[in-house]
Amino acid sequence: MRTTSATGKNGRSGLAGVTRGRLLFGGDYNPEQWPEETWHEDVRLMKEACVNSVTLGVFSWSRLEPRPGERDFGWLDRLMDLMHGNGIGVVLATPTASPPPWMGRLHPDTLPRDRDGRTEWWGGRQHFSHSSATYRRYAAALTEDLAARYGGHPALTMWHINNEYCTYDWGDEAAVTFRRWLRDRYGTLDALNTAWGTAFWSQGYGDWQEVLPPRRAHHLNNPTQVLDFKRYTSDLLLECYAVERDIVRRYSPDVPVTTNFMPMWAGQDAWRWAREEDVVSVDLYPDPRDPFGAQEGALVQDMTRSQARGPWMLMEQAAGAVNWRDVNRPKPRGLNRLWSLQAVARGADAVCYFQWRQSRQGAEKFHSGMVGHAGERGRTHQEVRRLGAELARIGPAVAGRHSACEVAVLHEWNAWWAGTQDGRPSREVDPAQLVRAWHRALWEAHLTTDFAHPEHDLSGYRLVVVPQLYLLTDAAADNLVAYVRGGGTLVCGFLTGIADEDDRVRPGGMDARLRDLFGIRVLHEWWPLDAGEHIGCDGFRGTLWSEEIEAGDAVAHARYRGGELDGLPAVLRRGRAWYVSTLPEPAALRELLADVAAGAGVRPVLDGLPAQVEAVRRGDLLFVLNHGRDPVGVALPGTYRDLLGDRTVTGRLELPRHGAAVLAP
Ligand code: GLA
Repeated sequence: MRTTSATGKNGRSGLAGVTRGRLLFGGDYNPEQWPEETWHEDVRLMKEACVNSVTLGVFSWSRLEPRPGERDFGWLDRLMDLMHGNGIGVVLATPTASPPPWMGRLHPDTLPRDRDGRTEWWGGRQHFSHSSATYRRYAAALTEDLAARYGGHPALTMWHINNEYCTYDWGDEAAVTFRRWLRDRYGTLDALNTAWGTAFWSQGYGDWQEVLPPRRAHHLNNPTQVLDFKRYTSDLLLECYAVERDIVRRYSPDVPVTTNFMPMWAGQDAWRWAREEDVVSVDLYPDPRDPFGAQEGALVQDMTRSQARGPWMLMEQAAGAVNWRDVNRPKPRGLNRLWSLQAVARGADAVCYFQWRQSRQGAEKFHSGMVGHAGERGRTHQEVRRLGAELARIGPAVAGRHSACEVAVLHEWNAWWAGTQDGRPSREVDPAQLVRAWHRALWEAHLTTDFAHPEHDLSGYRLVVVPQLYLLTDAAADNLVAYVRGGGTLVCGFLTGIADEDDRVRPGGMDARLRDLFGIRVLHEWWPLDAGEHIGCDGFRGTLWSEEIEAGDAVAHARYRGGELDGLPAVLRRGRAWYVSTLPEPAALRELLADVAAGAGVRPVLDGLPAQVEAVRRGDLLFVLNHGRDPVGVALPGTYRDLLGDRTVTGRLELPRHGAAVLAP
């Protein structure tokens, strides 16, 4: 993959300037819940657990500004000094994700409205409108004072803006900012009417005041209006982020800035956002009970590394159970270590948690912490300590190293948004699930993948796969064609290149450049399948979708068998361009992609890996991770030094259940 130098944009250091050859280890620390004696106890435990980074202040607004305009910084001064005195770096958050109750009471205009016009009240969190001028004014003022006070503090290592930006607003002030955003995009109402196709269903707009966020309608909102609302929401939140980021940069130009993404979150165009950050960070909570939990982790890690174009920060994970699923199981012994090492294998230079000490009150008192209710003797904390010591040991050998991938999966937010509209051919088709299915096939084939935007330079990859990009810009379509012309191998799933940027169906029902690329003469009809339904194909079964295609100069690699489409091509190939018109069952998709990859010269990191074992290269280190419940033996092509076990291994590596090795040549 492409990499960045240690010095990021505008001379700021990025993550490398914070890690300085170590891995960061720590988490969200919310000490305002505890008496000050506990802070000293916390510091002792942190040092014993090799914690070198804490994130302070994420939800401290009502403590910092108890009444409008007042400031209470004394407690935070003491904490910053305490951390510094003990060699623990502080990622300082702007607390703007959860305004104090006084704000909603005095300024109801700061509260967002849902699409039914209902208010989101205080009493939880994230009850702010991205469009509210009042909210923005208060948020900027507090950010300014925080930055002025702590921008030069020796404990400060990074700024963390807000938390998991994820709010929507359909209210009146949002209608004003939506119109402003639309004017910037389209210039004139005529252009908006054309883009939205308002000639249909009598929707033509004659005055900007008529244009609204897509509020509840009797039947099917205009799809391009909905698409633009999602683009606008991502952009408005990004504006809020950028305002705070620019303030803290004025006071501490060398301190990197981040905001934490949610994993596979539809609300923020993460490609766009990542460009605005010095450090890309993500929160990651796979379900310990999910048999594909490790793959879900790998997917998010691959995506975050690709957005960061280098090392990234795991801002939050759980040491044990979360509390927001229906049933919340803790991590079994060894799993926290294994999944943390997986993140490091896939490029993380920081392994952090929500949160340091488990709360005794509030909405998350049953969410695990690095120190749980069982205290320092609890299993979870004991495992945290062991992990902290291990990360400290391997850190110098690992931090800052890059991973090289030969395969890229394409994923893009506009296509995701447009591909989940109401009124589409099948509600069973979910772009995110398709990304998961295709990434899983590659993961199970032991092929490490980057993610890429369809307009990125793809020439460094031997293989590019497209699970589904329903909406494709002209630039992206040209890019795919150029990639194959330039010698790349492309495998593309169904419902790709159907619509242009305005969600207007391309002539012929699919982009003509792609039809030519894959050798499709006519795409007659789509034949979506029901949940659980299968369609026979040569050598495998398809699910979810099928298509009535007339091939041109393509070769039919597999045909549909039986039913309406009997004998028609299911998988087409024209040179190095492959088109897959159904979703093959998992084993078949894995085999197909592994075969095509082998043909493109892409090999797994190690040959003959057992199914539950993941092997990932980072620099010249080889991470080998046993996700299985049983011990396993892995054949190695030579002699290595295992940095975790401090042992030499030759020819064969034995790993216990959930065991891991970090092998140096
Ligand atoms: C998110 C938030 C945290 C916490 C965790 C719980 O990641 O950022 O504040 O609520 O979820 O899993």
